[in-house]
Amino acid sequence: MSQLSLQPIERPRDDDAFVEFLSTHEFPFHVRPRPTAEDARARLVAGVVDGPGAFGCWVLADGEVVGVVTLEDLEDDAALIDLRLAKDARGRGIGSAVLPVIVTEVFGRFPSVRKLEGQTREDNVAMRRAFRRAGWVKEAHYREGWPVSGGLPLASVAYAILRSDVQSGTTTPVPWDDEP
Ligand SMILES: CC(C)(COP(=O)(O)OP(=O)(O)OC[C@H]1O[C@@H](n2cnc3c(N)ncnc32)[C@H](O)[C@@H]1OP(=O)(O)O)[C@@H](O)C(=O)NCCC(=O)NCCS
Repeated sequence: MSQLSLQPIERPRDDDAFVEFLSTHEFPFHVRPRPTAEDARARLVAGVVDGPGAFGCWVLADGEVVGVVTLEDLEDDAALIDLRLAKDARGRGIGSAVLPVIVTEVFGRFPSVRKLEGQTREDNVAMRRAFRRAGWVKEAHYREGWPVSGGLPLASVAYAILRSDVQSGTTTPVPWDDEP
């Protein structure tokens, strides 16, 4: 396995590279699967990597860019993750292996964040398995929660990891059967 690391995306230095990354690769499980260069630039302007409560990093494998991770709501208790690997970097274990690196970075850099959450479409098997493999816990299954253009909505599935669990080396389960 390659050496994985994160490198903060710097604006405006990295703007063109970010736009190229987002508009070159296809993201079949995102609401917008093929972002155009204009879409990508609009996301930058909207603050996806450096807006309030936002932070974006390149994912590097042996020093080469293989993906982008963006985080939002970092001023809240619970932050949100969006991880996107380049097409030829997928399915090689990078997603599962980089999640703990991201968790360490976020909990280290943003002391108020207690929890990191990710939502993905029910048929995004790679993301769901990567979350599981990295110790994230499924917390919600929003039936018909993910609109699909020209088709029926799919479920949106939410996974999360707690700072307290990472610190104590435990995994707190979700109390599904807690109704009296
Ligand atoms: C989702 C993503 C980050 C996962 O990272 P990855 O490096 O491809 O995943 P991994 O290689 O670590 O594989 C994780 C698991 O999924 C499985 N898997 C990988 N690709 C798969 C595929 N196309 N179909 C089914 N299973 C797959 C692996 O076998 C592995 O399973 P295991 O833990 O049982 O061995 C990456 O595929 C990606 O960037 N996809 C496009 C963007 C995206 O959908 N991001 C999610 C945003 S929430």
